[in-house]
This record gives sequence, structure tokens and C-alpha cells, in this order.
Amino acid sequence: MKLFIITGISRGLGEQLVTQLTQHKQRIIGIGRTFTREQNILATSNSNLLTLIGFDLANTLSFNELKIELDSKINDNAIEVIFVNNAGIVNPISKVGNIKEDADVERHINVNYLMPVLLTNYLLNKHRGPMKILNISSGAAEASIEGWSLYCSSKKAIKTFLDVVNKENMQLTVEHIDPGVMNTRMQKNIRECSVEDFPTLNHFRGLKNNNKLMSPEDVARKIIKGYLIK
Ligand SMILES: NC(=O)c1ccc[n+]([C@@H]2O[C@H](COP(=O)([O-])OP(=O)(O)OC[C@H]3O[C@@H](n4cnc5c(N)ncnc54)[C@H](OP(=O)(O)O)[C@@H]3O)[C@@H](O)[C@H]2O)c1
Repeated sequence: MKLFIITGISRGLGEQLVTQLTQHKQRIIGIGRTFTREQNILATSNSNLLTLIGFDLANTLSFNELKIELDSKINDNAIEVIFVNNAGIVNPISKVGNIKEDADVERHINVNYLMPVLLTNYLLNKHRGPMKILNISSGAAEASIEGWSLYCSSKKAIKTFLDVVNKENMQLTVEHIDPGVMNTRMQKNIRECSVEDFPTLNHFRGLKNNNKLMSPEDVARKIIKGYLIK
């Protein structure tokens, strides 16, 4: 038996992972600020299958509240816990020196790095049974892209952190996947910025104009088949 803990499920890849995993009758705890109508309906009618925890992952100072919510739901060491670190943000996109709001820097690092670190530390302490972490990474973790200093470095940082955690824990499996360029809100955010802030912008606009973006449905299907329910 498996219990999936997935962050950022209201849209994009996370939404598709939840839709398809629940079709496979897999138990899920979804964490995020908002949820879809379908997710709310399913969680109300079948809380055994889908549990929703409303939480802003940038709010690291309230992490204790999230731990209390999770404590009552993770209590069986016989099951395999699979943490899918999916929630992620790309903004602020800007050359360093031009980032206007310090709070946006903090929010970015909290969502992409600090919160997954806190969650991993909590889960490894709480659950003594088998565990797997699937980190939704990005090609940006291995690149240095102008305008994406925060995104490249936060994706690289969480990857390195989880690689160390993997070495430390025999009972844990960590896998990273780069889902590729998907047709989600994140890509819309990228296309909406300026060439001044993001010199490779036209490459991403071209991918959209030439229908080269992958659908999150297809990517979720491959991830589930290849990594989550083998
Ligand atoms: N799209 C791509 O081309 C692409 C390429 C490579 C890697 N990736 C990676 O794939 C993952 C999924 O991206 P996506 O394209 O599906 O993004 P998306 O459509 O923008 O969805 C992001 C999800 O994260 C949640 N989220 C964002 N900020 C949050 C916060 N403060 N607290 C709680 N939840 C928050 C959002 O929910 P709420 O706003 O409702 O809270 C949403 O459900 C990310 O890790 C991203 O880095 C994406």
C-alpha cells in the first residue's frame, strides 16, 4: 500500500498527477494554497482516497501548523510513503540587481527550496517505513540561464540536498525528473516577461507558437508509469 504526498496540485502537472493517481485508486494527501472543484468534491466524498491540506508553502514560519495536520494522517509504518515535490515557481524572472521586491526572493526560495527541505526532514523523522521522494526537477537545475538565477539555483539546491539525504538513508529512494517544457501556467508566466529580464524569452514563445509544449496529462501518465506505480 502507498500513500502519496504531493505539493502544488491545483493545476499543471500536480493536478494531472492527482487526477490520474486517484483513477488508479491511490491514496493521496495534496498540499497547496488552492484546489480544483473536482478535488474538493472527491475529498469530501472519499477522504480516504484524497485528503487536502490548504497551506501556503512560502509560509515557512507556519510550518508547525502543517506538521500538526500531517501528524494525524501519517501513522502507519507498514505503508510506503511517496513524497512528490512538485510545487514550484519560476518568478521573479529578472537579472540580479533588477529584482524589485525582496519578498519575492524569499517567497521563491521558500517554495522551491526551504519548504521541501523542511518537509523531507519531517517525513524522515515521522515515518519509519519505506519511503520514496520524487523530485520534479528541471533542466534549469543543471544550467545557468540569464534572468533565472533564482530558479536555476533553487532547483539545483534542492536536488543536491536530496542527493545527500539519499546517501544518508538506506530505506529511502530519491529520484529526480525533468518533466520537459509543459503547457502550464508556469510557461505562461515565462512568456509574459520581457526580453530585457529574460534574454531567451523568444525561444519559449516559439515553443508555444509551434505547438512544441508537452501536455501535463501526457507527462503525468509517463511519470506514473515510469516512477510511481511500476
Ligand atoms: N512547466 C514547465 O515547462 C516545467 C519545466 C520543467 C520543470 N517544471 C517543474 O514542474 C513542476 C510543476 O510545474 P507546473 O508547470 O505544473 O506549474 P504550475 O502550473 O504553475 O503549477 C504550480 C503548482 O504549484 C502550486 N504552488 C505555487 N506556489 C505555491 C505556494 N506558495 N504554496 C502552495 N502551492 C503553491 C500552485 O498552486 P496554488 O497556486 O494553487 O497554490 C500549482 O498547483 C514545478 O516544480 C516546475 O519547476 C515545469
